[in-house]
Amino acid sequence: MRRSQLHRCITPWSVTSENQTTSFDYSRVVAQFKSQQILQQDRQELLDRIETVSKKSDQQHQQSFLKHFLRRGIIFSHRDFGDFLNDQEKSRPAYLYTGRGPSASSMHIGHLLPFYLCSSLQQTFDIPLVIQVTDDEKFLFRDINLDKLDKMTTENIKDIIACGFDQDKTFIFRNTQYFGEMYMTILQIQRCFSTNAVQKTFGFSGTDCVGKLSFAATQAAPCFASSFPKVLPFADRSNARCLIPCAIDQDPFFVLTRNNCCGPLKKSKPSLLHTTFLPGLKGPGVKMSSSDKDLSNVILLTDDEAAVKKKMRSAFSGGRATLKELQEKGADLEVDTAYQYLRYFLLDQQEFEEIGKEYGSGKISTGAVKDRAAEVVNSVLKTFREKRSAVTDETVKSFCEKRMLK
Ligand code: TRP
Repeated sequence: MRRSQLHRCITPWSVTSENQTTSFDYSRVVAQFKSQQILQQDRQELLDRIETVSKKSDQQHQQSFLKHFLRRGIIFSHRDFGDFLNDQEKSRPAYLYTGRGPSASSMHIGHLLPFYLCSSLQQTFDIPLVIQVTDDEKFLFRDINLDKLDKMTTENIKDIIACGFDQDKTFIFRNTQYFGEMYMTILQIQRCFSTNAVQKTFGFSGTDCVGKLSFAATQAAPCFASSFPKVLPFADRSNARCLIPCAIDQDPFFVLTRNNCCGPLKKSKPSLLHTTFLPGLKGPGVKMSSSDKDLSNVILLTDDEAAVKKKMRSAFSGGRATLKELQEKGADLEVDTAYQYLRYFLLDQQEFEEIGKEYGSGKISTGAVKDRAAEVVNSVLKTFREKRSAVTDETVKSFCEKRMLK
């Protein structure tokens, strides 16, 4: 595949690999996006540095998704994360920013990952977090009716809250309701973005509506603390550092922001941490998507235990055609859905390594690995659902109302 083709495979609105059954080549993604790759040999050093800067010991990090994602290469690249750490070291103001475009009323299990990561970053560095809910984006990019959108958005916000954030330090806002407060910042950004730059970055054409063009500035605005005059608690909002953990498909928004407005606006460039995509059940080259009509590719947060087990049983596998062949060659772990789900969700490093060794050498069966993956996913979902059922309208209010964070 030529480089220009790869670019079209990953955009904020669609992600496909050249082939459903081969995994993404993330080294090539890094080369294409020109981000900074986190190589396996550099992971430990980065983890040590995080520990020093955050003054949180390894033990306090036991269950940390930040550590887990770094170790397993799920966070695979970054932009200026070192600058964020330097700022943290000097106790300069910083905050986290992530977001979510509301989709189908139930989110899927892949959606939890960036939020778990944010929650872990928030715990590690003890800093505020803002979460942008882009109901406007869905309106502009998908043919969706307003009533349905409103319901979906409310349900999605509850799902997000159930991922576990510090209530005093987290602000969740819907663009259609919060826009006014950010508008001054949005205007400044709009003046920096040329039509050409936005079109080229996202591949828009002359027939796309103007709303899509201007949305780029709306997603960029929370990179700057000036968008939160009544929310972010900094004495000087002009230069607070923003760290954005996101899947790599969202990166183009922030490259545009870093390249076009930080200079003219004299603001610090946002730092980024990039995560890989959770593969769909049909194979490593298909990202899980809840707008997928075919629900056999996704695990929804509402799927019960039996459904998860059944879906995992029929998932794409890297096992071989016959038991004999599996015993001879071992499983292809790279493309095996069940093994990959364990890589994302099984925090116990020792068990994970054992399964890798045994399955990779054909000593255990595909069925056994699939069942273990279903168990692990079910326990993640169980914990999630317990937290989700405790989210009330009052809780939503406390996260979404405008107030100064700590
Ligand atoms: N565009 C994202 C989506 O469709 C939502 C989003 C807004 C976002 N701001 C963000 C995601 C910042 C990551 C980081 O889901």
